[in-house]
Amino acid sequence: MAEKIPLSRVYQSETIDRRILEVVKGGNYILGPECKAFEKELAEFFGVQHAVLSSSWTAAVHLLHLAQGLKTGDEILVPSLTAFPTIEPMIHAGGKPVFCDIDDTYTIDPADARRKITGRTVGILPVHLYGRPADIDALQQLAREHGLWLIEDCAQAHGAKWKGKRAGSYGDHAAISFYPSKNLTVYGDGGAVLTNDAAIAQKISMLRNHGRKDKYLHEKVGFNLRFNEIQAAVGREQLKMLDELNSGRRRAAEWYRRELAGVKGVALPPTDTPGKTESVYHMFVIRLDNHDRRESLARYLKEKAIDTGVHYPVPNHLQPAMEELYGKLPPLPRTEDYVKRILSLPMFPALREDQVKTVADAIKQFLRS
Ligand SMILES: Cc1ncc(COP(=O)(O)O)c(C=O)c1O
Repeated sequence: MAEKIPLSRVYQSETIDRRILEVVKGGNYILGPECKAFEKELAEFFGVQHAVLSSSWTAAVHLLHLAQGLKTGDEILVPSLTAFPTIEPMIHAGGKPVFCDIDDTYTIDPADARRKITGRTVGILPVHLYGRPADIDALQQLAREHGLWLIEDCAQAHGAKWKGKRAGSYGDHAAISFYPSKNLTVYGDGGAVLTNDAAIAQKISMLRNHGRKDKYLHEKVGFNLRFNEIQAAVGREQLKMLDELNSGRRRAAEWYRRELAGVKGVALPPTDTPGKTESVYHMFVIRLDNHDRRESLARYLKEKAIDTGVHYPVPNHLQPAMEELYGKLPPLPRTEDYVKRILSLPMFPALREDQVKTVADAIKQFLRS
């Protein structure tokens, strides 16, 4: 039987196993020294002053929007092609997503974002989708011109770089996710806000822990959206490996490019722009030239024990939950076209050259048939 090739695989090691046991035996489980050290190491890695852990990206950004003081009716420019959670926190905090189209890098099209600015726009929330940084220069320029804040969604881009600096260090704030498929994982849910704003970091730290300043002194009505010691220990070990793991992803991407070069009917992901972007290939997403072929190719690969995914089949401006809130939203032509044609191929640091060849050969066979 053919070896199964999964879409993603979590990095594991004996060192991590040992560290987990150490923390279990240590008897300190929530927001202790491991969390503190992980926050410090994350901030150093991303090149920001503060990292504040929370129970997920979604939780962390909810607290961030509350700490920012988002008001009812505030509009935020955001790409529609992203995970649904990108827009949930802003809505819970009273804000309204204003959906923008993407450019051919699958990230927010700054020109479309500019067209959608109104008197109520307060911020831009770009997503470094599939591990490739959005056009940070253009977005910073737009933010500066219109007095908007910028929050980078780095859930898929831990370690990616823009002009030599980490994505996540450019915005007013940024957020990362540790969901198991991500480039940096903690064997469960988790996330963090990255920021240079000490007051915001302090507010989020308080809000995630029942608004307490001290054990029995509650300055705000908060939440229980804390992080835990076992997962922080896992995250610290994964962080040490992150650059190496991302290199493994980049190596796999090069093998895909070599194997699929010139194959008619398949558009490969945009290559990095030297001196500008350094992608970390959270996903390797191909785009077929024909709508009808995506599902049949996915089925064909599945029969050969190759897993694929679609990120994302329904863009957020077309989700039923959005229609319920805002009615029918304006079309986004490129997004609506691409979501019918994209297919995510297996991608993880330990992916082998022969596995990439197996996937590519199967795609070529399918396209010939
Ligand atoms: C781009 C993007 N933003 C936000 C999220 C939400 O992250 P979490 O699952 O940690 O809340 C995810 C992950 O699903 C994501 O891929």
